[in-house]
Amino acid sequence: MRPYIIGIFLFRRDIMDEKVVLSLCEEIKAKFEGVDTLNKLNDLKQEYMGKKGIITEYQNGIKDAEDKKTYGMNLNKVRNAFDELYNAKLEELETLELNKKLESEKIDITLPGTEIPMGAPNILERVIEEVEDLFMSMGYDVYDGPEVEDDKYNFELLNIPKGHPARDAQDTFYIEGNEKLLRSQTSAVQARVMLEHKGEEPIRMICPGRTYRRDEDDATHSHNFTQIEGLLVEKKDISLSDLKGTFDVLAKKLFGENCVTRFRPSYYQFTEPSVETDVSCFACNGKGCSLCKNTGWLTISGAGMVHPNVLRMCGYDPEVWRGFAFGFGAERCAMLKYGINDIRTFYNADLREVGSFDRKEDI
Ligand code: DAH
Repeated sequence: MRPYIIGIFLFRRDIMDEKVVLSLCEEIKAKFEGVDTLNKLNDLKQEYMGKKGIITEYQNGIKDAEDKKTYGMNLNKVRNAFDELYNAKLEELETLELNKKLESEKIDITLPGTEIPMGAPNILERVIEEVEDLFMSMGYDVYDGPEVEDDKYNFELLNIPKGHPARDAQDTFYIEGNEKLLRSQTSAVQARVMLEHKGEEPIRMICPGRTYRRDEDDATHSHNFTQIEGLLVEKKDISLSDLKGTFDVLAKKLFGENCVTRFRPSYYQFTEPSVETDVSCFACNGKGCSLCKNTGWLTISGAGMVHPNVLRMCGYDPEVWRGFAFGFGAERCAMLKYGINDIRTFYNADLREVGSFDRKEDI
């Protein structure tokens, strides 16, 4: 029996013999057994080790003890017993708490994740960039030109004077009288670039850009579409075979190594001779299918040798300089390449349509 609970007069903290040690240890042990939270553990620590705690008071009682040495040794036994139980309990409760937390935060890794929509380059931009990369690797520069253009660049300097019937074919949007228009072809940039180089320097340029025509929009026509123009002017003897070689490289890059190309005679005012350039159908290898309307060929671009009048008007002496030019629709190439059958797909910003091409491997 602990002295201080036997009676008010025996409320002494100066006796610490074997009996007291035993009863204190038993009492402490029983109390630890009832502890099941960290808060209760803390309270128990206060009860025994706090400023007014039971063990602390025994500690203070040492000054009145007769045999201080034995008292101290015995008290240490109690304190050690307390510490031992305390540490074991602390570890047990902390592990318990951690397990509870882990259990409540458990993640079911078999649940399907939240899908993050993947961005992808616009399919038209991709074709344009592919063409740009190819021509840059052959020493061409990429040019830009105004979409609101002067009649002079869009027609006159390209050998299409006022009143020429070829103007009608392009259904041009005029803005101010007859002089300002929305360019109907990127060929306008040819004239600009030649004038910029003042008839003195060779030119290798391509110009991708928007063009406009008064077309009724349907699956294959759009009042706004993208052309890629190309122009090469050199002092050397440039011939149709250089154009053919260049076009061959382009066709293979866009439609696959197996493609072959051909020229058909054509007519453009700014080239002489003029050609229509076809590429063998990559879908059927030229055998004939629905894509090539059973002809085995796909028409890609207009082209030709730059007309001497154009060279002259743009400051290049046709006796010294020669060149070739070509122009083709970027949408048409993208439509063929990716099996798109409506040109409006490029403009109506329907993410379902844009997304459906995002993982398509290049042919
Ligand atoms: N500008 C022509 C068109 O819109 C395409 C073209 C043909 C461009 C022949 C050229 C060329 O540079 O040489 O139909």
